[in-house]
Amino acid sequence: MLKHAVIPLAGFGTRLLPLSSITPKELLPINGKSNLEHILDECIEAGIKKFIFIISKRKENIKKYFFNDQFYKSILAKKKNKRINNIYKKLKKYQKMIKFVYQNKPKGTGDAILKCRKYIKESHFLMLFPDDLIIKKNCSKEMIALHKKTKGSVIATKIVKRKTVSRWGILSIKDKKKNFFTIKDVVEKPSLKLAPSNYAVIGRYILPTGIMHKLKKLKPGQGGEVHITDAIKELIFDGEKFYGNIFKGKYLDCGTLNGYIDSGIQIAKEKK
Ligand code: G1P
Repeated sequence: MLKHAVIPLAGFGTRLLPLSSITPKELLPINGKSNLEHILDECIEAGIKKFIFIISKRKENIKKYFFNDQFYKSILAKKKNKRINNIYKKLKKYQKMIKFVYQNKPKGTGDAILKCRKYIKESHFLMLFPDDLIIKKNCSKEMIALHKKTKGSVIATKIVKRKTVSRWGILSIKDKKKNFFTIKDVVEKPSLKLAPSNYAVIGRYILPTGIMHKLKKLKPGQGGEVHITDAIKELIFDGEKFYGNIFKGKYLDCGTLNGYIDSGIQIAKEKK
């Protein structure tokens, strides 16, 4: 049973400066709800029971956002307010599900995931990048269904314009069905010439817990960081089954300023 979602949150958020200089970018509001809550709600609706947030000392405001009991209690003691009471109840629900681990040095997503190894006992776990929002259809739910059907690992994917392949992890594919295919290989940010397809990796992965062994042994790659893509490549090479889930929802990139602004507009339209 897939129970855990791991969310890397230790990044600097430089693409969203100055907005992210004081407030972690994952707490910035998108249509009245923090980016991170959009992700949490998607996961909870998909049946996830436990979250591991990988933060850093710089990003302790994320902890405070969810664990600010004194503040809520003092406000609610002064006046009964239904809205605030409901918010506090929702936060208490989240509190039971969240654990924090620290990655104080920016050593890559692979290194971040390794920090969670003590806590995950199941065979697979979900990992999400909060920069990547998917609306209209619950992508995590689709992926969990594909994982149950195939028993394999799953990566969310969508077709991107060929000229943009060097911004993404790109999948080499076989046995394509309507909504999924088998992944033969993954190439991180290839040149147009070397891209094996234009199916891009979007920030949602169902990974085998065995990936921790690979990550432990991996040498830092590009930019001195331990990359999750390198570990996935090795697992596929060893015969681990990985599937691309061509998700039905709409992708929103809220990791850049323009994308962040557009995400708010798109979600507002959706909710009308
Ligand atoms: C990361 C992954 C990349 C993936 C992308 C999705 O890249 O390394 O494979 O396509 O997320 O958003 P980043 O956005 O951190 O450069």
